[in-house]
Amino acid sequence: MVGKTRFDFTGESAIVTGSTKGIGRGIAERLVDAGANVTINARTEEDVKQAVNELDETASGRVIGVSADIADPEGVERLVSESVDAFNEIDLLVNNAAVWPREESMVTASLEDWDYTMDVNVRSQFYAAKLVAEHMIENGIEGSIVNHSSQTGDRRSGPRGLYGISNTSVNGLTWRMAHDLAPHGIRMNAVSTDLTESYQSRWEAKQEAEHQDEATVEGILDEWGDERPAGRLGQPEDIAHAVLYLASDKADYVIGDILRVSGGGNLQ
Ligand SMILES: NC(=O)c1ccc[n+]([C@@H]2O[C@H](COP(=O)([O-])OP(=O)(O)OC[C@H]3O[C@@H](n4cnc5c(N)ncnc54)[C@H](OP(=O)(O)O)[C@@H]3O)[C@@H](O)[C@H]2O)c1
Repeated sequence: MVGKTRFDFTGESAIVTGSTKGIGRGIAERLVDAGANVTINARTEEDVKQAVNELDETASGRVIGVSADIADPEGVERLVSESVDAFNEIDLLVNNAAVWPREESMVTASLEDWDYTMDVNVRSQFYAAKLVAEHMIENGIEGSIVNHSSQTGDRRSGPRGLYGISNTSVNGLTWRMAHDLAPHGIRMNAVSTDLTESYQSRWEAKQEAEHQDEATVEGILDEWGDERPAGRLGQPEDIAHAVLYLASDKADYVIGDILRVSGGGNLQ
């Protein structure tokens, strides 16, 4: 590696949606390590409590939890208002939570699948960003918003059409909203990832292993990693480092960018 960086987010307050597991958990951990106050969010209340307790053990800032379904606008409103009540101000929103529907084809996908995917993956990012941006503008906070996209959003075919379309929409949201936020000193960007080790990708590997003789989850994950130009699967901390960079002063002139953090998966 060339060069070394340490991030300092002491005194900054962040919301990370979908942060009890996988990449969101990795992002929350890095922000806590960097001294930030962090709101942990997911639907499962027990997981939220557990993640808050675990992260609190090493935190120098405050860690709170808000269990809320971000597919529900009221859940997003509660997530933002409880975070503002706890920290007084929000400097960073990470729109991370998403679902990955497994429809067979765009022809057989249902309207319900479409609505659910767009509500969780796109509408929630828009609405959370809107509420946090209004709070930042009212309080003169020159903050940062980082959305989570996926390489499927760049592809024109392949499996998981609805998921892909939702991520193409996240890219569009990032460009257009970043443009309108920039005059307020608020920077919006996105990270776009390829296959990364998480709760969800382990679950997918388990499904695949069950259909192959003598295959193991670890073996499947290694195989998927070997297929990437980097020769390994992404880890939550790879994405977390990119989020902290985009949120930090080192990215002060980076606006409306989709940063591809995919070990070269973006080239395939
Ligand atoms: N892992 C990959 O290979 C990969 C690749 C490309 C992009 N991404 C992107 O990375 C992000 C994180 O994915 P991941 O793989 O880390 O997912 P994951 O391991 O499945 O974790 C998802 C997290 O989000 C929470 N969540 C799910 N639906 C929610 C909802 N409606 N409201 C609130 N919280 C919700 C989950 O907890 P509950 O179930 O308790 O709510 C969990 O904490 C997503 O934006 C995804 O599109 C991932």
